[in-house]
Amino acid sequence: MGLLLFATTDEVVSQNLSVFSPASPQAESIRGLFVLVLAITGGIFLIVEGVLVYSLLRSRRRAAAGEAEPPQVYGSTPIELAWTAAPLLIVFVLFLVVARTEWEVRPGPEDQPPPGSQPLSVTVIGRQWWWEYVYEKYDGREWHVTTANELHVPASDDGVPRPVYLTLKSADVIHSFWVPRLAGKTDLIPGRVNRTWFQTAERGVFLGQCAEFCGTQHANMLLRVVADEPAEFERWLANEAKPAVDEPAAAAGKRAFLAQSCVNCHAVRGTPARGTYAPDLTHLMSRKTLASGMVANSAEELRRWLADPQQVKPGCLMPSFKLSDRDLDLITGYLRTLR
Ligand code: CUA
Repeated sequence: MGLLLFATTDEVVSQNLSVFSPASPQAESIRGLFVLVLAITGGIFLIVEGVLVYSLLRSRRRAAAGEAEPPQVYGSTPIELAWTAAPLLIVFVLFLVVARTEWEVRPGPEDQPPPGSQPLSVTVIGRQWWWEYVYEKYDGREWHVTTANELHVPASDDGVPRPVYLTLKSADVIHSFWVPRLAGKTDLIPGRVNRTWFQTAERGVFLGQCAEFCGTQHANMLLRVVADEPAEFERWLANEAKPAVDEPAAAAGKRAFLAQSCVNCHAVRGTPARGTYAPDLTHLMSRKTLASGMVANSAEELRRWLADPQQVKPGCLMPSFKLSDRDLDLITGYLRTLR
């Protein structure tokens, strides 16, 4: 329920994380497979339990009547054939439908997107415990924009397909990218490049989650996919591509920020802060949440995070720098200007 906290008036945050309400053709294929497998295995369950219960009741009645053991069957070829052929057939059908679904959800070649489409290519890097997104290409243009945790994508609700191609990598351990309503789980594996894709006509915020145990804060490695109408997405992307704003009113805060070791890990484009180890902060205020979707991105939460990240996300890789109250106010004030 805590997630409701971040629902603001200008965005619809669906709390729905169900694979049964797909919002992309890829998730729809997965739902089809899920329902079919559930029906087949449910049928097997009913038959097996039915025979079991029937045998229990039958044998119990006979025992009460004092009858002898029922006739025993040894080495019946028809029965053995039946219980070998039936499972083989079931496994074969399951194999075929899984193969078909795999085929449907696998990304096509990125250099040959569907005709008339406006494809978006993003590199996703899994990190303990947050997501880095590097926007590579949109609609034929190169971008190289870096952001974190909230993946903005254009919706395809005007008849133009806008496939989103994700290239998945890891900077440390194995993670798994999972947004149930948009795409199935795809692992991010160190030393390996995986790919996935989705496309949605539905606008709004889709919640997701790292789906592979990756350390103490695995459960808090949340993610949000924001599907905007294309014009709004393009405005967002153009803003992300700009260097950080330099508000004269925040000059003292900027000095305080640059004087700390923040700059070794974080980047604020257009300033000497060029760290690549932690989330890019150039447009921090364009994000609705902090700490990979854990808390709202408000002045209070940001100050609390700067004071001691370990209080908010125990085990996270940002240590407490024991900043003075004055530095906390100054740096919070500066970061709040990074729109
Ligand atoms: Cu990353 Cu679990």
